[in-house]
Formats: sequence, C-alpha cells, structure tokens
Amino acid sequence: MKKIVILFSGNGFNAQNIVQTLHQKECFVACGITNNRDAKGLEKLQTLGVKTELLEHTNFDSREAFDAELVKIIDAYKPDLVVLSGFMRILSEVFTNSVRAINIHPSLLPKFKGAQAIERSFESLDKECGVSVHWVSSELDGGELIMQKSFFKQTNESLESFSAKIKQIEYEIMPEAILKVLG
Ligand code: GAR
Repeated sequence: MKKIVILFSGNGFNAQNIVQTLHQKECFVACGITNNRDAKGLEKLQTLGVKTELLEHTNFDSREAFDAELVKIIDAYKPDLVVLSGFMRILSEVFTNSVRAINIHPSLLPKFKGAQAIERSFESLDKECGVSVHWVSSELDGGELIMQKSFFKQTNESLESFSAKIKQIEYEIMPEAILKVLG
C-alpha cells in the first residue's frame, strides 16, 4: 500500500477527511505533522489512530533551518507523497527541491493565491469560484495544477454558505487528487 504524510497547521478538517476516506483502504497515512502545538487537527488524527508529530517553527532561526528539519522527519517515513492540507507555511527550496508534495487551496488558482482566499474570492465579482489541488513548487500556490472543481456563486449568497460549499468541494477533491497522483 502506498504511504502518505499529511502536513497541517490548524483545524485539520481536511486531514481528518483524508484519513477517514483513504487510510488503510486506498493508502496508508504514516503520520500527520504540524508546526502548531494548538492545532485542533492533532487530536482529530490521534483519535483516528494516526501517528502525529509536532515541529514548531518558532524553535528555528530561519525558514531554511525549519524546512531542513521538516524534510528530515518526512524522509524517515519514506512516503510516496506528502499532502499539505491547511499547512500555513511558506516553504523554501530546501523543502520544495526534495519533497514530492501536493497542496489544496480554496480558490480557482491562479486567482487569490495566499491567505484569506475564501474571503477574497467571495468578495470578488467572480461568479465562478472553487478549489484547486496543485503540485507544491517554490512559488506560493503557484505549482502545476492537478485538479480544480468550481461552482457558481448565487446572488445574495452569504459568506457562511459560500464557505460551506468550498469546504464540501475540498472534502471531495483532495482524496480524489491523492488517488490520481498515487496512480
Ligand atoms: C482549507 O480551506 C485549505 O484549503 C486552506 O486552509 C484551510 C484549512 O482547513 N489552505 C490554504 O489556504 C493554503 N494556502 P482545515 O485545517 O480545516 O483543513
């Protein structure tokens, strides 16, 4: 069975969904790694029986030093693929040159790269919005696209309803993209 490692920083709903959908069925989730000791995803993965590791970026003097240690931890698991699911760190070439990784982003890239993508996409005049999964490269949210799914914003749609649609698409598209990439 192919092995993946998941990186996350916060709520971990996507990480949880990946584990519930794929773990020990389609692939093996060897570990979930977070940079944030308060990440809610830690407990979610532990409850599902997945090993977790904490690597706090605040303990490092530079982005490169953190990334080097992160790569070391990842390499120990020898994963076929690394999945960034709400991992809120800009990654240096120390990471991007040596790790085969994909990322999920809540917009139709190349639109609305970076933080607050859901809010910016909601506030934009764009009628068609959605979610992207792409290869991780040294350019933030800029690597080659793997999959996108979109929907049409309704007139008078609330941010709450819009976000819920984005999340629903995320939970569909991420497992699909992982399976596509793992082949
Ligand atoms: C998700 O919406 C994901 O697409 C986004 O962070 C959220 C994490 O939620 N990622 C990015 O914005 C990456 N640039 P979760 O922790 O509940 O899965």
